[in-house]
Amino acid sequence: MSDAPAKPVLLTGASGNLGRMLTKALSALGWTLRLTDITPFPDAIPAGAAFTRADLNDGVTILRLAEGCGAIIHLGGISNEQPFETIIGPNIRGLFHIYEAARREKARVVFASSNHTIGFHERTETIGADAQFLPDGFYGLSKAYGELMGRMYWYKHGVESVFLRIGSCFPEPIDARMLASWLSYPDLARLVVRCVLARDVQTSVVWGASDNSRMTWWRDDGRETVGWTPQDSADPYAGQLAGRVSGDPVQERYMGGGFCGMGYSRDEPAPAPFKPA
Ligand SMILES: NC(=O)c1ccc[n+]([C@@H]2O[C@H](COP(=O)([O-])OP(=O)(O)OC[C@H]3O[C@@H](n4cnc5c(N)ncnc54)[C@H](O)[C@@H]3O)[C@@H](O)[C@H]2O)c1
Repeated sequence: MSDAPAKPVLLTGASGNLGRMLTKALSALGWTLRLTDITPFPDAIPAGAAFTRADLNDGVTILRLAEGCGAIIHLGGISNEQPFETIIGPNIRGLFHIYEAARREKARVVFASSNHTIGFHERTETIGADAQFLPDGFYGLSKAYGELMGRMYWYKHGVESVFLRIGSCFPEPIDARMLASWLSYPDLARLVVRCVLARDVQTSVVWGASDNSRMTWWRDDGRETVGWTPQDSADPYAGQLAGRVSGDPVQERYMGGGFCGMGYSRDEPAPAPFKPA
């Protein structure tokens, strides 16, 4: 059993796939959780947890929910590519409410960012966490904005953040891309525990992928700072999934995969990403 944080932890997006998994994992460690989501919580509420149904657009309720919390694990919001007007409320205004709450409570934010912040980097590249943002849609753009908001709150208000650039977090990998980008549920749970308990994180970025030998894309992040090493691997799935590719040259060229192809309207292939001198 790991140490439990001294103060309650607010977990948004609790009713989603990762929220439900983390609720179970963190409750089993004895953590006191405040769960919230716009959708009712579908499971039994574990001991030490309370659920409040709320919209991230409702800043007053978010402030109230965060009262007394030492950390906010922020998973709530739109989690796939959608029109700009659908994304802006939950993912931009909602995020502002989370950071205002964190500022008031002097709480740390663990933000579920995404590989789609850098989706238009090519799969032949190896990039560090300081690579330029190349979002592959409005969703990825909202996550990049979220990371920038976190940096602003650190420099201006001392709010610490860990930005988890999650690859593909599912019970199992299901296609060839995920042989690189897959993050197992237990690896995510261990990562989130470290992000909350680590001493000083300032603003750290961690690539959210398991120990997959095909993950040649992402390097140089804050995993040492938070004290996390992935333990699982997609490698055992390689035999069954290596041939499961989309056949779409845009999807297969870029790290963001299918999100890059959604609504793509260039006639000619894009030039390689501009690299500042
Ligand atoms: N699963 C992955 O592979 C992956 C990859 C990259 C990033 N992420 C991020 O991790 C987080 C969790 O992912 P997930 O797979 O569990 O997604 P999910 O869609 O299952 O969960 C998101 C939750 O946010 C809630 N939500 C949406 N709008 C809301 C609003 N206005 N107010 C309050 N709650 C609202 C939804 O009801 C849902 O329960 C998301 O932020 C997602 O962008 C996930």
